[in-house]
Amino acid sequence: MHMGRKKINSINDEEISILVVIIINILVFEMHIAYGVLERFEHPMIKGDGSLSVLVIGDWGRKGQYNQSKLANQMGITAEKIDVDFVISTGDNFYPSGLTNEYDPAFHQSFTNVYTAPSLQKQWYSVLGNHDYRGDALAQLSPILKHKDTKWLCLKSFILNTDVAEFFFIDTTPFQNKYFSDPEDHVYDWRGVLPRKKYLSTLLHDLESALGESRAKWKIVVGHHTIKSFGLHGDTQELVKNVLPILQANDVDLYINGHDHCLEHISSSDSSIQFLTSGGGSKAWRGGYNYNYNSNSEEKENEMKFYYDGQGFMTLQITQTEIDIRFYDISGKVLHKWSASKSLLLSTF
Ligand SMILES: *[C@@H]1O[C@H](CO)[C@@H](O)[C@H](O)[C@H]1NC(C)=O
Repeated sequence: MHMGRKKINSINDEEISILVVIIINILVFEMHIAYGVLERFEHPMIKGDGSLSVLVIGDWGRKGQYNQSKLANQMGITAEKIDVDFVISTGDNFYPSGLTNEYDPAFHQSFTNVYTAPSLQKQWYSVLGNHDYRGDALAQLSPILKHKDTKWLCLKSFILNTDVAEFFFIDTTPFQNKYFSDPEDHVYDWRGVLPRKKYLSTLLHDLESALGESRAKWKIVVGHHTIKSFGLHGDTQELVKNVLPILQANDVDLYINGHDHCLEHISSSDSSIQFLTSGGGSKAWRGGYNYNYNSNSEEKENEMKFYYDGQGFMTLQITQTEIDIRFYDISGKVLHKWSASKSLLLSTF
């Protein structure tokens, strides 16, 4: 092609179409670069019977106060009974505003010095909540914390594989419009998140392809914010719109979250997903049951299986064929149970 001076003033149709092709190629190439791939971890199965036990807690870091330590003590007792393999934190790890930096004493005061039971000295897998984003969000992801306490691991989004189940952890805070449009007097640490549109589309793309490729018997997605909830915060519309369709299309079994400071189980009538809230790590008793949510919908009322406004935690016990979910209060009492099974045969097809 001769790009002479004269030609610039009179680009013909053919040249325009070549330019368009070049631009499209550049865009596609850039999109490939932008699509990060979620980091993957493998958790070794150590139980002889091939089962997995997990304890789930959310919304907890309050320097041991407000029943955090009392609940931690009960978590230790239950974790020992069911021989927990690892712990999941659904976020809002440090109140009120995350950590100030990697050397913030709150890390010890709210985590290391609180969850001291031998049965809880297992790997913790954590995501960030909206309160964590109000401090130095990157500090919680830093290897310095892992050095201070080897059981700590927190990433924005990642995948955890075990033999019986695959866990997909997603960073839900950047989905909420109001943190951007109306942050009130909070300052959010959006480093690594901006430009937001690209960050969210990359995350959705990565989640969709990872779920699509997964051959796991049980697919479990974990995020801080609710998708469905009768609690104070209710449904998170941005997740209902953008994330829920991906979960439905990929046969996800459980969506687990915190954010509402309660324990909660909601089934859905249009898919087999169970929505489980474990956000009772400390900041409970807000009186947040949202009656309006279901006042005009019998269907939603039928989906509601369990709601508890108080401190507590959840456990998952998983085998190739069964999943068993339990919610506990601060005294270790089982408040609600749910289980499901899948035929072993199905996995061989
Ligand atoms: C601590 O737990 C007890 C028993 O569930 C409850 O009565 C009390 O209100 C809780 N305190 C706080 C600060 O949440």
